[in-house]
Amino acid sequence: MSVSPDSATAVRTVADAAGEPLLSVRGLRVSVAGGSEVVHGVDLDVPRGSAVGLVGESGSGKTLTCRAVLGLLPVGVEVTGGEISLRGTELTALPAADRARLRGTELAAVFQDPASYLNPSITVGAQLAEVLRVKAGLARRAARERAVELLHAMGLHRPAHVYAQYPFELSGGMLQRVLIAMSISTGPGLLIADEATTALDVTVQAEVLELLSELRRDRGLTLLVVSHDLAVISQLCDTVHVFRDGGVVEAGPTRQVLRGPRHPYTRELIEDHERFGIDRARERRSGR
Ligand SMILES: Nc1ncnc2c1ncn2[C@@H]1O[C@H](COP(=O)(O)OP(=O)(O)O)[C@@H](O)[C@H]1O
Ligand SMILES: [Mg+2]
Repeated sequence: MSVSPDSATAVRTVADAAGEPLLSVRGLRVSVAGGSEVVHGVDLDVPRGSAVGLVGESGSGKTLTCRAVLGLLPVGVEVTGGEISLRGTELTALPAADRARLRGTELAAVFQDPASYLNPSITVGAQLAEVLRVKAGLARRAARERAVELLHAMGLHRPAHVYAQYPFELSGGMLQRVLIAMSISTGPGLLIADEATTALDVTVQAEVLELLSELRRDRGLTLLVVSHDLAVISQLCDTVHVFRDGGVVEAGPTRQVLRGPRHPYTRELIEDHERFGIDRARERRSGR
């Protein structure tokens, strides 16, 4: 059967929309200046609207993989191979200014220690409003109103009161909600959460994970979730990539990987988790 050019284009467009992941990483290599390679050819697909998990012991390369995607590698650490494609745009070759713009608009991230990303001497609301003014171009009053709305949407009670508080007045869970508000305030498609709930106690952790699930469901946010904790990954993620020593040893649907692990290292992670519980596994994995 012959296909006219127009219908071929239409077919391809439909296929792209359905099949092309929001983020695609191919053969990613990251090295430390002086030579040693610490990420050895990682492949990762993050479909739009999905939640993809990266799990594995401390030092296995999860954070550097995420930072490579964000274009935020530490000084002296660089991408030495592979491709990172966001909505079909190859990122590794982009100038730093373009990477920074993408971080404001299409990509965002939250990390383990929210307080360290806030200025201790400015109220959290003013800091959130500042992001909205600079990155979303809102006028002062609109930014303030939008900030209060966002704090409310993040599940913070009495958002106008929270707006006027300083970071030290808020709990870790509240601060992480403020950081999530900041990171999604400019409407990015992809949120990277790297050990974002690790420092929180179990109940608060569950609440913040629930917030991330809601943002995914209600706003169509795509999630890339990093945790050394299988419980976090199994609560949030459709698919999981198991990292070890800078590589992915196993990847697949979360349920399938957790119920029928193929790689001995994945089995070890699951056994540790079952035997010692979340906190003990955490201590063992982080080498403490
Ligand atoms: N700034 C850095 N300089 C040199 N080596 C680093 C740096 N950050 C991380 N590494 C090394 O890269 C490897 C992967 O680290 P990382 O991605 O942070 O692991 P994870 O997030 O899985 O705990 C580790 O061996 C770590 O020591
Ligand atoms: Mg890490």
